[in-house]
Amino acid sequence: RAIVVINPNNPTGAVYSRQTLEGIAELAERHRLLVLSDEIYDQMVYEQARFVPMATLVKGSLCATFSGLSKVYRACGYRVGWVSFSGDLEHAGPYLQAMDLLASLRLCSNVPAQWAVQTALGGFQSIRQLVSPGGRLHDARTAVIEGVARSRYLTLVPPAGSMYAFIGVDRALLPDFDDNRFALDLLEKQHVLVAPGISFNTDYNNYFRITLLPDPACLGDVFDRIERVLDEYADR
Ligand SMILES: Cc1ncc(COP(=O)(O)O)c(C=O)c1O
Repeated sequence: RAIVVINPNNPTGAVYSRQTLEGIAELAERHRLLVLSDEIYDQMVYEQARFVPMATLVKGSLCATFSGLSKVYRACGYRVGWVSFSGDLEHAGPYLQAMDLLASLRLCSNVPAQWAVQTALGGFQSIRQLVSPGGRLHDARTAVIEGVARSRYLTLVPPAGSMYAFIGVDRALLPDFDDNRFALDLLEKQHVLVAPGISFNTDYNNYFRITLLPDPACLGDVFDRIERVLDEYADR
């Protein structure tokens, strides 16, 4: 049995507070749960948000921290990721051996690309500029927040980290809104691709996820297109 933490989060952009993470660590220790912590967006944090590694908090349980080159280092095609184990290693011998065996037999790592890991982790951390004012991800985040603020229909908890925003649609204004239908309409009519919230297993269907990857300058136009589709829904 395990507890999964994705921090900073995809799709919501949440960055969990130290207090929340301490609570999760305590829960895991009390119930003897393995903690699987996906921290692949660890350096993508905005404004005042602070990222706290789970490995610094989990002591009495086993903690597996996952990361890779595809986000912070923008090398997704390399297919390079890793996991590091910490916490109660003493009681985890057989589990770690099994993981080692699985990795050796099944994963078929991209060995040449693994040479990039040291350069990525030890080299110039260009991500810091991208998430600071004037940086592409920072400014795309601002453009998304502004786009939502201009809309009649949209709501957003501004993302504190990662490269996504999880945007809500006001049910009071659009009671029949369906995220899947909206994603298809937006793509077909306005040529904008978003991910419907339901694809993240939500039990509500009035959210969609947008990424912060487009050029900040084009995001204003993206929100105009979103508004056009929502206006059409409202006029029905
Ligand atoms: C939280 C999280 N972990 C891992 C991955 C996968 O990254 P990779 O490109 O290395 O498969 C993603 C990709 O979207 C992600 O959002």
